[in-house]
Amino acid sequence: MHKKDKEAVDLDCLDITPWEIVALGASNDIKDYCESIFSQGNGYMGVRGYSPIGRKNNNAERTTFISGFFEYIRPGITDMVNQPDFAASKIFINGTDINEMSVADYKQVLNMKDGTVLWSYTVLDKENRRTQIRIIRFLSMGNKHTAAIRFEVFPENHNSSIILETGIDGNVINLPIADNQLSDNTQFVNMWGKINSSSIGKKGSITAETIYSNRITTMEYYINIPKEYKAVIEADTKDNYTGSIIKFSGMQGNRYVIDKLISVANYRDGENIGDIAQNHLEQCIKFGFDGMLVESKKVWQRIWEHSDVKVESSQELQGAIRYNIFQLIQSDPSDDPYASIGARGLMHGRYKGCYFWDTEIFMLPLFLNTNPEAARNLLLYRYNTLEDAMESAKRFSLKGARYSWMSSDTGFEQCETWDTGCCEIHITADIVYAIGRYIEQTGDINFLKDYASEIYIQTARYWKERFTYDEQKDCYNLIHVKGPDEYCGVTINNFYTVKMALHNLTLALDSIKLMEKEFPEKWESLREKTQLVKDETKKWQDIIDKAVTYYDKDRELWIQDPIFEGLEPIDIGAYKDDNIPLYHKLSYDRLQRYQVLKQPDVLMYMALFPEEMPRNQMLAAWNYYEPKTLHDSTLSFGIHALIAARLGLRKEAWRYFNKSIFLDLKNLMSNTAKEGIHTAALGASWQALIFGFAGVWINSQGISCEPNLPEDIQSMQFKICYKSAIYELIIKYGKKPEINFLYSI
Ligand code: BGC
Repeated sequence: MHKKDKEAVDLDCLDITPWEIVALGASNDIKDYCESIFSQGNGYMGVRGYSPIGRKNNNAERTTFISGFFEYIRPGITDMVNQPDFAASKIFINGTDINEMSVADYKQVLNMKDGTVLWSYTVLDKENRRTQIRIIRFLSMGNKHTAAIRFEVFPENHNSSIILETGIDGNVINLPIADNQLSDNTQFVNMWGKINSSSIGKKGSITAETIYSNRITTMEYYINIPKEYKAVIEADTKDNYTGSIIKFSGMQGNRYVIDKLISVANYRDGENIGDIAQNHLEQCIKFGFDGMLVESKKVWQRIWEHSDVKVESSQELQGAIRYNIFQLIQSDPSDDPYASIGARGLMHGRYKGCYFWDTEIFMLPLFLNTNPEAARNLLLYRYNTLEDAMESAKRFSLKGARYSWMSSDTGFEQCETWDTGCCEIHITADIVYAIGRYIEQTGDINFLKDYASEIYIQTARYWKERFTYDEQKDCYNLIHVKGPDEYCGVTINNFYTVKMALHNLTLALDSIKLMEKEFPEKWESLREKTQLVKDETKKWQDIIDKAVTYYDKDRELWIQDPIFEGLEPIDIGAYKDDNIPLYHKLSYDRLQRYQVLKQPDVLMYMALFPEEMPRNQMLAAWNYYEPKTLHDSTLSFGIHALIAARLGLRKEAWRYFNKSIFLDLKNLMSNTAKEGIHTAALGASWQALIFGFAGVWINSQGISCEPNLPEDIQSMQFKICYKSAIYELIIKYGKKPEINFLYSI
């Protein structure tokens, strides 16, 4: 990456306060960046934070995504579909588009208490007519099929004609982005075929159908405008667009408020999408903008009651912590078991919107601890794609279930980079790990009975075939794998992958024992369904006993894989003087022969199994791998902060934590504008805070807490959900932590 490619963002443009993110100034340099930062979502849909009246260079930059709505862009490969733009609006004063006027006092505010974004500024035309503009948008948490936009126009020193043109624009396109992170795509894809639009004055509707699979979205809007404005309203339906033109006379010193209420339904909601959208629109009309906002705010209030982490520290840090939580929740499909959270949530089309291990390993802990139902839904997505995972295993000539590195509305592989797609197989065990943690923490034994044990058996079956038996040495090798450290090439016996696979096999064996004892009938039908035979499980145990990992007793060091120590040493400092990934400077091929890590690998395992790893081994791994780690993935900083905190390395923990928690808010990777918010980093930051600084760990025995607060955080207060009860944890610097039972749920 050359310096000129860095995103030139003035970092002082954001003011981070405990509940608000504020951007002052409308310079073009920060526009794209702010569009990422101010992204909004309610789990059902998400929009980038572009202003409803803003102009974009192309129609792929105005993005609205619906959770789980994908479509094929070539055989077998999907992209998350850019939906019609329900914000599309223009304001004219005395015939001039306000985008052509000069702007003063620009302010953009994201309010994390109620999920609103406000744009507020004054426009000035050539005749010095000053008009204050305020626009507020939110995607309702109360009814996730709905959104609302309020337009406020205040002529300060003039009487003028005012025109608001607003509608829903189906002229949007996709710009699928290649997985390899190196090339910029310039080929737009038009996903939408037939688009029907209609409007009658204050109301409009658009139904768009994808070209390939005829997947439908219907959006409707209604304009609420006070009668006394005596507005003339005309329908405005043109190519793939439905809208209204609202004209009225604006008098000096009067504030004019017009609300646009929006409803959205799509093919995933059931039959008769049109009726569904219409019903939701009627709800909107009944509540109006203010009523909708009250309902939405109530839900946010409930969410914050469980999810907030209060810290005694700087205001900026408090705001950043909430921002991390807020953005993660905005992308969570919460009650939809057929969708998950993409690597950029619903905020950007990077990685074609796909789901990775990012969800189970990085994001899920936040939900597991604050809203276990949401965690359950995320895991159900994996159950609902189990058949695809089994078909995927077959495609690799294996039995059992193999989860894809990247998946979308199906579980079929979406990764087009062969080494990653074929070899980064740890994701199968990562999913199983997350399921195990969910059951351990919630005690939801029915989940084990109804879903997990089947996943365990099919995945264990996959691992059995995936390990290769070495007869001479009587051991099992995992050949042709890639660990989380994607710079390690394709290797053998990657520590993380082997250990996670063994955990997968162990959980499978344990669950069989439990099923036989506790649910014999269900077990019998599952045994029949999976055609499991006794001999099969013997082999699972044999692999657990004889799989190869490498431990150097003298150094107390777990070795990542057998080739790692033979790789070429490199002076990292000579190449890397910033946070920009090195793959922008050196080819991937070259990188794979250097002794560097992209992100934690052995340390990653240690983060997931703190009880298993003695401190001396963790410290040895830290001392050995940390200096060799490039942190070229945003997932890396938070995990390093967590491990450093557990090791009591306070300075390092604080340094890494700051990189993770401010990753997007300070554009530390220089790609937030271009790529959106990094959802796994949001989750990793939360883990660093709770599992690292607060030192919380939860297993079937209960909640333990050994804090490692940095000096800059004097206290922390938050809630944790454990086995149907809510606990409050209060941690004060230098004091014994308090764990208080609050109530049962
Ligand atoms: C990381 C992966 C991650 C993916 C999506 C890659 O750069 O190396 O670990 O799953 O990004 O976030």
